[in-house]
Amino acid sequence: MSPTIFTRAFDQRVRTLLGVLGFSVVLGGAFGTHVLWQANMEEGYRPAQPLPFKHSVMAGTHQIDCLYCHTEAYNGPHAGIPTVSTCMKCHKEIQTKDSEGHLKKGIAQLNEYWKKKEPIPWVKVHDLADFVYFDHSRHMNTKKKVDGESLTCAHCHGEVEKMDVMYREHSLKMGWCLECHMKAPDEEHKRPGETTLAPIHCSTCHR
Ligand code: HEC
Ligand code: HEC
Ligand code: HEC
Ligand code: HEC
Ligand code: HEC
Repeated sequence: MSPTIFTRAFDQRVRTLLGVLGFSVVLGGAFGTHVLWQANMEEGYRPAQPLPFKHSVMAGTHQIDCLYCHTEAYNGPHAGIPTVSTCMKCHKEIQTKDSEGHLKKGIAQLNEYWKKKEPIPWVKVHDLADFVYFDHSRHMNTKKKVDGESLTCAHCHGEVEKMDVMYREHSLKMGWCLECHMKAPDEEHKRPGETTLAPIHCSTCHR
């Protein structure tokens, strides 16, 4: 038995202090990570991708519909990233060569992933913090108009069909979401009592 040097009340206070300190370290760490992580997540964020996939060629020149590849955008929270077998629906046939007669680099890489049955390790361009709730289908299926226009992918992702390398058009920070949600209601489609275009109470996005 160790001798009792401190009174029980003092022990209690030390324990509380240590508890608070420990809690602050954990919180501080989480906050620090969040801030560092956010540095990657600013407007214009354009990470290098494992394969030179060009929206400008697919969605631009060849006008392939966004939903051909991002099939879930109207059905659920996530729009979805296509699998290699979706690419191969076209690229088993389309094996584009460069001017010297070699397969284009991206096509050769695609063939490799297909042969090895491996997914392509795309780097996420958009990634909201876990404490934020977002749902594509709620945005794609609404009748509400934003400044008189139907809501499209471009409102949030910019002119994707011109992008050679995918980048983040908007910050996706809270202020950006609210800027749109706080617009005046769409008189034709608003629900009774609504005073903004979309809900702005905290639990809409933090639940
Ligand atoms: C032929 C398939 C295909 C088509 C068509 C296509 N995409 Fe993509 N999209 C991809 C692939 C593959 C990725 C992942 C690689 C990348 O980020 O470039 C991606 C990534 C994205 C991302 C970023 C995802 C992330 O990491 O956050 C957005 C946003 C996006 N596409 C929007 C669109 C929009 C809008 C259209 C229509 C104008 C479109 N895409 C058409 C295949 C496609
Ligand atoms: C609906 C058909 C279709 C699908 C699906 C499709 N592509 Fe393509 N892709 C094309 C066409 C058409 C071209 C242009 C070919 C040409 O220029 O000869 C092309 C071109 C390319 C190129 C060469 C781009 C350049 O530098 O000119 C790459 C790389 C490529 N696709 C990768 C992919 C990947 C990766 C996927 C899946 C995420 C995919 N494609 C899905 C039709 C498709
Ligand atoms: C109201 C804004 C908004 C609209 C409209 C919108 N997106 Fe998004 N998109 C986002 C946000 C925010 C994220 C990040 C979600 C996350 O990290 O959880 C995202 C992520 C994505 C991603 C990557 C991950 C995933 O599967 O969710 C793809 C691909 C994508 N969007 C494609 C599209 C396409 C295609 C359309 C149109 C059919 C579209 N988006 C319409 C805001 C939007
Ligand atoms: C360009 C405009 C716009 C942007 C940007 C936008 N939203 Fe929305 N949001 C809407 C509209 C319009 C609705 C649909 C309202 C309706 O149908 O009543 C909506 C609905 C929602 C809903 C469902 C609300 C409900 O009824 O429960 C959530 C959740 C949501 N948005 C989250 C977000 C988040 C998180 C962001 C930012 C990452 C964001 N939104 C960015 C326009 C936008
Ligand atoms: C329309 C969606 C939306 C609504 C409504 C909303 N938030 Fe947020 N909030 C976000 C998004 C998106 C982020 C993500 C920031 C990031 O990842 O950088 C965020 C981040 C935060 C953060 C973290 C600090 C920061 O700025 O990154 C806090 C705290 C917060 N929200 C509190 C609130 C409170 C309190 C309310 C109600 C008054 C509220 N939010 C309403 C979307 C929303």
